[in-house]
Amino acid sequence: MSEITPVISATGLYTPPETITNDELVASYNAYVELHNARHAAEIAAGKVEELQPSSAEFIEKASGIKSRHVMSKAATLDPETMGPRWPERSNDELSVMAEIGVKAALDALQAIGRDPKDVDAVLCAASNMQRPYPAMAIEIQQALGIEGFAFDMNVACSSATFGIQTAADFIRSGNARSVLVVSPEICTGHNNMKNRDSHFIFGDVATAVLVEAKDIAPEQHWEIVGTRLKTVFSNNIRNNFGFLNAATPETIGTPDKLFVQEGRKVFKEVVPMVATMIVEHAGDLGIDPASLRRLWLHQANSGMNRLISQRVLGHEASEDESPTVLDSYGNTSSAGSIIAFHLHNSDLAAGDTALICSFGAGYSAGTVFVRKVA
Ligand code: COA
Repeated sequence: MSEITPVISATGLYTPPETITNDELVASYNAYVELHNARHAAEIAAGKVEELQPSSAEFIEKASGIKSRHVMSKAATLDPETMGPRWPERSNDELSVMAEIGVKAALDALQAIGRDPKDVDAVLCAASNMQRPYPAMAIEIQQALGIEGFAFDMNVACSSATFGIQTAADFIRSGNARSVLVVSPEICTGHNNMKNRDSHFIFGDVATAVLVEAKDIAPEQHWEIVGTRLKTVFSNNIRNNFGFLNAATPETIGTPDKLFVQEGRKVFKEVVPMVATMIVEHAGDLGIDPASLRRLWLHQANSGMNRLISQRVLGHEASEDESPTVLDSYGNTSSAGSIIAFHLHNSDLAAGDTALICSFGAGYSAGTVFVRKVA
């Protein structure tokens, strides 16, 4: 029996309407710093508590390339007394927040090609944080869309979406499903430590969806999945210790290690060569000259990292056309970043063009998805 070819039939995006600019974020952080320093003035004077330093919008843009980010809960995130997203608790009969934005992104993908949700066989909720352990967010999204079949959650941090695409492609190759939705709702402001000067500016919120299908049911215009590869290498340089064994204890609740923590410089130094080598080797194994790649939709964490990776892959500094940025207006949206870039910047490519979706981040984890435009 010949292998069934998996393709990307459609993608979808949900962008929260509220935004926070660097100036707004820095004003909030600096108000927190002033409050903190005033409240602890005596301990600071006695050398028992460290005086906090202000943040700066210039630093943020220079160090990361981020100018603004979309968020789910602007007022609470900017309030120096909360500094994180807040909304009224929802009852079990209401759609949860993560599922709600996941459904919106999924519908955007399904409607783009007129696909009836009843013809979808499986839903993967692939994201770096889940709102609860169970029932799975994916099953809630499945039910809200009226999809039969099966659904489950998977978390591979920033690489969740590419790992989801390979998983979906494997289901299709094996004949276990013919149409799979990979949904990535990323409410990254919820796991960010907005009181940490080194990283308070990094993240934004969004949801994406990728519809992976067997080629024979896909619309005429689609993206053939030429090859996928996944890689993980353990590292403590991006870590979050939040979990069911410590979440509820009074000693640990609210401690900074239960939120996102990173050694940003080490991440930069270690991940750039790892990912560039992976892309070049995978391209070679597929018989693709990396320099011929029409476009790189890279993970959106840091513009400097993307500049170096694309340079090593293409052999020259990539133009915005060759490696588009969405980081400037979305911030780091974890696994959704490369999918937003793909979604917003693929329509101008021609039939036959070969290009790459690539993620990298905590774990470490990295995923490469080579795609070729058909029709
Ligand atoms: N405002 C002003 N200055 C700041 C600041 C802020 N918010 N945060 C840090 N600084 C200062 C530091 O105190 C330091 O000052 P010093 O040189 O006097 O000690 C200087 O800026 C450099 O800080 P550093 O944290 O080393 O900056 P960086 O250039 O490495 O950039 C990151 C930080 C996080 C943006 C960058 O390392 C990065 O993006 N790395 C990759 C992260 C990544 O991809 N993570 C994956 C997450 S999913």
